[in-house]
Amino acid sequence: MIIIARLMGLPDALAPQLLDWSHKMVAMYQARRDETVERAAGQASAEFAACLREQIAARRRTPGDDLLSELIAARADRTSDDRAEDGSGHLTEAEMISTVVLLLNAGHEATVHAIGNGTAALLAAGIVPAPDNAEAVAEEILRHDPPLHMFTRHARQDVEIAGHLFRKDDEVGLLLAAAGRDPEAFPDPDRFDPHRPARPAHAAFGAGIHFCVGAPLARAELAIALPILFARCPGLAFAAPPRYADRYHFHGLARLDLTIAP
Ligand code: HEM
Repeated sequence: MIIIARLMGLPDALAPQLLDWSHKMVAMYQARRDETVERAAGQASAEFAACLREQIAARRRTPGDDLLSELIAARADRTSDDRAEDGSGHLTEAEMISTVVLLLNAGHEATVHAIGNGTAALLAAGIVPAPDNAEAVAEEILRHDPPLHMFTRHARQDVEIAGHLFRKDDEVGLLLAAAGRDPEAFPDPDRFDPHRPARPAHAAFGAGIHFCVGAPLARAELAIALPILFARCPGLAFAAPPRYADRYHFHGLARLDLTIAP
């Protein structure tokens, strides 16, 4: 959370509060949500927006070398029905806030789960991540156990793909994680092996115009964090079997209890 907050230009001290708001907001994606969850998410988003309004105002007065200042300065070519309030092409305040909320939430929730899933997979396979295998390890984690399993799309026209006929406006669930376990693309797909000879693209970051904008950051975070974790905690081992959270949307661990060598 601190990494993405710094990138945006928000103070480190805000990280715990941003994390709490983010957790309350992403709870809206979960199955079985109830009114308490919805109210907490509504309140978190109002507080989050008020906090960002202050931060945006401060950056307008004193721009910095950060993404928030870049977003304030950015201009887009817009059509006449999608014009900023002042006609300038800049983002409106509402657009700024929703963009920053998306970047902050998307910028840590998935990465946190990928680091947890990856740590468990590495320990189970007896592989120690180090700077010389870190990139291959990061890709294999994303293929083998990605933190986001499904996004949906709507068919814009009738189309046949791989023998399936999708009708215009059909909603299609795209199982990104299942693509990573396709045995035709990845032989013995359940095996965690960073050194697979063939490495076709996985779908953990999606595809097309909504392909994850944070993919390079997420890849760097995995490749940097895991070798540091294993180097600082020699003898890292399971204290109990990892337990996946029974949740929809984010696929990650509810608990990962580990021991380190004394
Ligand atoms: C391992 C970590 C991550 C995974 C697996 C992941 C996965 C994804 C996926 C699958 C999508 C596509 C959603 C769709 O098709 O509708 C997406 C979109 C997005 N991701 Fe990530 N993400 C990760 C980390 C990050 C980070 C670090 C950031 C922030 C810098 C980020 C920001 C975004 C944003 C803003 C979008 C929306 C892009 C758009 O709709 O055009 N993600 N991500």
